[in-house]
Amino acid sequence: MTKICCIGAGYVGGPTMAMIAKKCPDVQVMVVDINEERIAAWQTDDLPIYEPGLLDVVQEARGRNLFFSTDVDQGIRDADIVFVSVNTPTKTFGEGAGCASDLQYWELCARRIKEVSTSDKIIVEKSTLPVRTAEAMERVLHSGDNPVHFEVLSNPEFLAEGTAVADLENPDRVLIGGHETGSGQKALQTLVDIYATWIPRERILTANVWSSELSKLTANAFLAQRVSSINAISALCEATGADVADVAHAIGTDSRIGAKFLKASIGFGGSCFKKDILNLVYLCESYGLQAPADYWRQVVAMNEYQETRFVKTMLQSMFNTIAGKRIAIFGFAFKADTGDTRESPAIRVCRELAGEHAEVVVSDPKALDNARLELPDLLDQIEFDEDPYAAAEGAHAIALLTEWKQYKELDFQRIYDSMTKPAFIFDGRNMLDHQALFNIGFEVYSIGKGRKTHLK
Ligand code: UDX
Ligand code: UDX
Repeated sequence: MTKICCIGAGYVGGPTMAMIAKKCPDVQVMVVDINEERIAAWQTDDLPIYEPGLLDVVQEARGRNLFFSTDVDQGIRDADIVFVSVNTPTKTFGEGAGCASDLQYWELCARRIKEVSTSDKIIVEKSTLPVRTAEAMERVLHSGDNPVHFEVLSNPEFLAEGTAVADLENPDRVLIGGHETGSGQKALQTLVDIYATWIPRERILTANVWSSELSKLTANAFLAQRVSSINAISALCEATGADVADVAHAIGTDSRIGAKFLKASIGFGGSCFKKDILNLVYLCESYGLQAPADYWRQVVAMNEYQETRFVKTMLQSMFNTIAGKRIAIFGFAFKADTGDTRESPAIRVCRELAGEHAEVVVSDPKALDNARLELPDLLDQIEFDEDPYAAAEGAHAIALLTEWKQYKELDFQRIYDSMTKPAFIFDGRNMLDHQALFNIGFEVYSIGKGRKTHLK
């Protein structure tokens, strides 16, 4: 029986391993993590991350061939294949601060693997890493006198949060990078065979390790670039009276451009886009490629502009003062169907509103615990209320920041009646029926569309 160990039971490691265990009952999957609370939660039905459909997958395999443990050493020792899926945040100190990846957890894992292993293993990079990390890891793994052989593969994860189960079950592609040596190709084939249990062979792409590592950074950079591109156009739409949804539709019907990922918004968030682009920027710079570095950095700059622009619009439309005004935030997660708030645009929006001395009330169906963690210094200034009706009561304005489906179904007449007038609504996701809101009496602002106002 093949034995897999995955180090890191987070948003990536947890769901990916649960799917492998579900699809491959003959493979034993052990997920280990240094965080005891997280591991304990994976063993209950109150999983540590919110992801639609995930509990069913976990329940099917847990106790059969899917296990969770804090015993990292034992997990490594027993395994034939070790996935490493620990976090690689942007460095906050030293060389490359604010740009490069902090690889300390990754290196610690590599050292641990080297120390405790007593048999040959395949090591799979699941975390998104700078190009040529595998090479550095191989040096660490093969330093010293342990005779064990480690073969490093790159297998970046392309799942998106909120749709992780569907993405894992039916991915556009799986990418595996391996060395072009005999042992590299053998290891690669072992991993291909696991995925081929449920994924059509033609969707399993293979490449060399460096191409695989770079493909992941590039995919995220391209996706983020599309969001920044349409957001750049949204600013122009607001200035000229064009409608960004019409523009997106018109360009999206060109099959060369495609319709997906063209929704203008408050901005992109999530743990990956910004981090991976900055990683790419750092890589370009470290190879002396300043123009490509500047080009990609601009995607992040555009995103920050969009977030700040949203708050400016709020301030200007509410007569240039929001001090003492109650503002209800609908949605704090970085996208719908997740409780994840990492790099959520809501963080900047709430901070800037609080900086203007507004009374901010944050509402979200799944992300309030994480929202509190994002704003530790503002806990006495910001209120949190899961109920959007309660959050909006007496408010001067609502800012919708996450596209939770349930916000579409709210009784906006009831909300309007309970608010201070004039009642403003800022739709940072362009998801509400703006004409209906205007007819109720709201002052309606959205992204990349003309405002609807009753004020003369
Ligand atoms: C993370 C990265 O953000 C992403 O770039 C990468 O592709 C995969 O890993 P995610 O799963 O979302 O993605 O991170 P997170 O939810 O923070 O999970 C990482 C886990 O690793 C945490 O539970 C942490 O406790 C664990 N960890 C970290 C270890 O078990 N050992 C360590 O040494 C460090
Ligand atoms: C992303 C990639 O999609 C995934 O392949 C990779 O593995 C991890 O990073 P994720 O961050 O989970 O996944 O979500 P994604 O759906 O890509 O959305 C990222 C951000 O862009 C969200 O804040 C989302 O609201 C925003 N977005 C997305 C837009 O503003 N407009 C769009 O049209 C699409």
